[in-house]
Amino acid sequence: MTLQTRFTQLFGVTHPIVQGGMQWVGRAELVAAVANAGALGFLTALTQPTPEALYEEIQRCRKLTSRPFGVNLTMLPTITPPPYEEYVQAIIDAGVSIVETAGSLPTERLEQLKQAGILVLHKCTSVRHALSAERRGVDAISIDGFECAGHPGEDDIPGLVLIPRAVESLSIPVIASGGIADGRGLVAALALGAEGVNMGTRFMCTKEAPVHPNIKERIVASDERQTELIFRPLRNTARVASNEVSREVVRRLNAGGDFESVRELVAGARGRRVYETGDADLGIWTVGMSQGLIHDIPSVAELVERVIREAEEIIAGRLPALMRDKTPTTQTSKTPMPQTSEQPS
Ligand SMILES: Cc1cc2nc3c(=O)[nH]c(=O)nc-3n(C[C@H](O)[C@H](O)[C@H](O)COP(=O)(O)O)c2cc1C
Repeated sequence: MTLQTRFTQLFGVTHPIVQGGMQWVGRAELVAAVANAGALGFLTALTQPTPEALYEEIQRCRKLTSRPFGVNLTMLPTITPPPYEEYVQAIIDAGVSIVETAGSLPTERLEQLKQAGILVLHKCTSVRHALSAERRGVDAISIDGFECAGHPGEDDIPGLVLIPRAVESLSIPVIASGGIADGRGLVAALALGAEGVNMGTRFMCTKEAPVHPNIKERIVASDERQTELIFRPLRNTARVASNEVSREVVRRLNAGGDFESVRELVAGARGRRVYETGDADLGIWTVGMSQGLIHDIPSVAELVERVIREAEEIIAGRLPALMRDKTPTTQTSKTPMPQTSEQPS
């Protein structure tokens, strides 16, 4: 017996588990390990400096796995936008069959992907954006609750409400994302009607993730309170690790500063150096509240196998054991209460 959902069937994977795009982290080593473990991993397109480099990274991943994997394309508002059309063309030319889109989803890019026969999993943070993406023809939705690492949007709706709201509103499969790190989270997501889970922070803290060991240990040592929401006053909120730099960004923007006042602190190159050097206080780096649930650094295969085993134990063991025949309760309620001297007569 294995856990099967519309998502596993549609995307051709063994387990209902996704490793979403992660800037500087979603590289071939990690994505191939996720694919080999039977889950769905996404290379992060913009981690590669050019569309040509992305094409090469896809080939590198293919050498490491024969299982399906995808590419994440994040389209956020930036001052100098990357050549998205060329990145999409590189994905198509490389023969990738699954794409995770995130941020905005321009019609031309969606058409480019759909015409190439690519399955599109669109990640968003609100039911209204999910509905709009469904109407425009995406194949599934990943919905990111407020707990998530990265961009939670501006509505601040946690997964416990957001996931069932998405499920009741959409007819395509919904993947629950944000705050999930183990089998309990997977079962909870399935109970809420989702057909799988997306995990970022948890996969970042595995042996294969191309991140300095110090950063993985920092995640293990941190709890769920140690994140900051930066860019809130700019309405481009991002959840990142709490450190000197992120707290200073929050201070400056709360004091009325504009993007220019924090530009140097939030530079992507600084964040990248965090993962390379292991100095967690060097810049801004992304992590979610789920770090409070992370207590070790397993291999990807160990992690996926554990999440599935935990989920199956809960579904087949703990939950059925909670079920009781109603008859004895009914009889008990009919039994007259014993009278004691303290009870009013
Ligand atoms: C280090 C890191 C980098 C991320 N970068 C991206 C990104 O470039 N594009 C994207 O769509 N999501 C990005 N995310 C978000 C994840 O894909 C995923 O939606 C999120 O981590 C889910 O929340 P969780 O961390 O609680 O599991 C990133 C997450 C992490 C931890």
